[in-house]
Amino acid sequence: MKQIVADAAIKEVESEMILGLGSGSTAALMIKSLANQIRSGELKNIKGVPTSFQSEVLALELDIPLIDLASVSQIDLAIDGADEVDPGFQLIKGGGACHVREKLVASKADRLLIVVDETKLVQNLNKVFPLPIEVLPNSWKQVKDIISEMNGRSTLRMATKKAGPVVTDQGNLILDVLFNDGIRNPKDFEMTINNIPGVLENGLFVDLTDKVLVGKIDNNNPVVYSPTKVL
Ligand code: 5RP
Repeated sequence: MKQIVADAAIKEVESEMILGLGSGSTAALMIKSLANQIRSGELKNIKGVPTSFQSEVLALELDIPLIDLASVSQIDLAIDGADEVDPGFQLIKGGGACHVREKLVASKADRLLIVVDETKLVQNLNKVFPLPIEVLPNSWKQVKDIISEMNGRSTLRMATKKAGPVVTDQGNLILDVLFNDGIRNPKDFEMTINNIPGVLENGLFVDLTDKVLVGKIDNNNPVVYSPTKVL
C-alpha cells in the first residue's frame, strides 16, 4: 500500500520543481520513486528540500540534488507521510520525531501532499496516536507537569539501541502525549501547546494539507484514492 501511494504521489511532481522531501517509511518510498524518475530522465532539474537527517541521507545516497531550506523562498510541492489524518485534513505528525523541520517545509510549500495508508484515517485526532511534542532537553519535566494539568499523559520517548531518550535532529527530546478527550480543536491546541515554555514545536499540522492520497486494499488489490476534505 505504501509503495503504490508513494508512486501515485510522484505523478504530481513536474520537472524544475523545488520539492519538500518528507520523512518516515512512506516518504522514503516516495524519495526512492523520485530518484528512479530522475535517473530515467522523466523528471529534470528537481531540487529537494529535506525535512530530516533521514531524508537528507537517503536523497544524497540516491543522487537527488538538494537545496537548503534557508536558501529557498518558496517550495513548489511538499510530499510527506502522517500518523493521523482527520476528515478536515488536520494531521498528527512526528512519529519519526521530525515534525519541526517537516512543519517548516510544509509552511513554505505552495502545496502539501500527504501520503498514507487507510489505517491513518481517523474521525478524531489523538484518541489513539499520541501527540509528539519537541521540548528543550532541560525542560521536559516542567513541560510534562504542565501538560498533566491539561489532562495529558506524557511519555518521554525512549531510544532503541541506545540507552536513554530519543534525541531529535535539533538535539531536543520528545514527549508523546495522549489527552483524556483526544484533540477536538486542533487549531487552539496547536497554539496552546506551543505557548508552554520549553516547547519548540508540536506535531499538529493545522490547515496546511492540500491533498491526501490514501492506499488501501480493495478485493485483494492495492488501490489509491484521494478523499474530499470535509469543511
Ligand atoms: C515523521 C513523520 C512521518 O511522516 C509519520 O510518522 C508517518 O510515517 P510512516 O510513513 O512511516 O508511517 O511525521 O516525523
